[in-house]
Amino acid sequence: MTEPPKKVRAGITGIGSAVPDRVVTNAEWAGLVDTSDEWIRSRTGISERRFCDAQTAASDLAFLAAQRALARAGTAPQEIELIIVATTTPDYPVFPSTAALLQERLGCAQAGGFDLSAACSGFGYAFYTAAQFIENGEFKKILLVAVDTLSKNMDHTDRNVCVLFGDGAGAMVMEPAAAGYGHLASVLGLRGSGAEELIVRHGGSRAPLTPENIASKDRYISMNGKSVFKFAVSIMGEATEQVLKKAGLKPEDIDIFVPHQANIRIIDAALKHLKLAPDKALVNIQKYGNTSSASIPLALDEAYQAGKLKKGMLVAACGFGAGLTWAANLFRWGY
Ligand code: ACO
Repeated sequence: MTEPPKKVRAGITGIGSAVPDRVVTNAEWAGLVDTSDEWIRSRTGISERRFCDAQTAASDLAFLAAQRALARAGTAPQEIELIIVATTTPDYPVFPSTAALLQERLGCAQAGGFDLSAACSGFGYAFYTAAQFIENGEFKKILLVAVDTLSKNMDHTDRNVCVLFGDGAGAMVMEPAAAGYGHLASVLGLRGSGAEELIVRHGGSRAPLTPENIASKDRYISMNGKSVFKFAVSIMGEATEQVLKKAGLKPEDIDIFVPHQANIRIIDAALKHLKLAPDKALVNIQKYGNTSSASIPLALDEAYQAGKLKKGMLVAACGFGAGLTWAANLFRWGY
């Protein structure tokens, strides 16, 4: 095994997640739009998803996930030096950041913090960013939270989009890893030429919400499903191969593959590309749908709780999303 020498590697020392209580089944969607349980299951792999209620915002889910991660890491909030929140659905559209809200609520009095926006690739971008701060010696304890509540940004009458997404949060404490564990390599990618494929047109500085446009569907997610599907099918396998190559490893070295949970057919295509056995992939799309930036840490937390993640396992995670963005991360599970 040839892994790049590094003085310090960033590792995950505590993980947690949170989803809202409200379960929205396919049958419920079938009563609201022209769709069916059969169509959604067979075309996406999704059976149900979780939606926040009107009072619950991204920072509320983030808070619960973060508390669980801190408890599992045995880390007091005051020890956290930096908070990174990956989200495209912050509590407030301009400011303050979700990191600021979280800092106050958790009591991370010593921490700096910021939000990072990379859509469904947000976790991978945040993980690599946190790893850099730890590996260059700047910080010893970082709280990373990936949270999205896309149920609040979609048109609940658009069957092309509304059946796909769910709300959720995943969090982790990252610290210098024990020798032989932790972050090995990451790759980040961006293809801005595909920006129009997955876009919320109104509500930003290009087209602020006004009394005239407030009723327009352009305040919601607009997606070219076919085009995103094609992109995702090729990028998941390619980005995972790239990150493995960077670390001098091969697909067969992967113990656990954590794909972004957008569509079971995209996950199956990536597994085929990488020639990985299906049981190597963490899949929970049937229960949560596409939770955007939260999907990878949510799946990791579930696997951790089920005892599937063993110390020393090689974990490859790969996400893709609006932008178009992608991110792949490789690490050795160390706790
Ligand atoms: N129920 C029933 N029929 C539907 C539904 C639905 N919920 N949604 C679409 N259809 C219809 C379409 O209107 C179309 O009808 P038509 O042939 O009469 O025009 C037909 O089904 C087939 O549509 P396709 O687009 O060919 O369906 P496909 O098999 O490609 O599945 C899907 C659509 C599930 C959206 C797929 O393209 C996909 O998963 N794309 C990727 C989406 C994605 O991952 N997005 C998130 C990226 S992450 C982020 O950053 C947010």
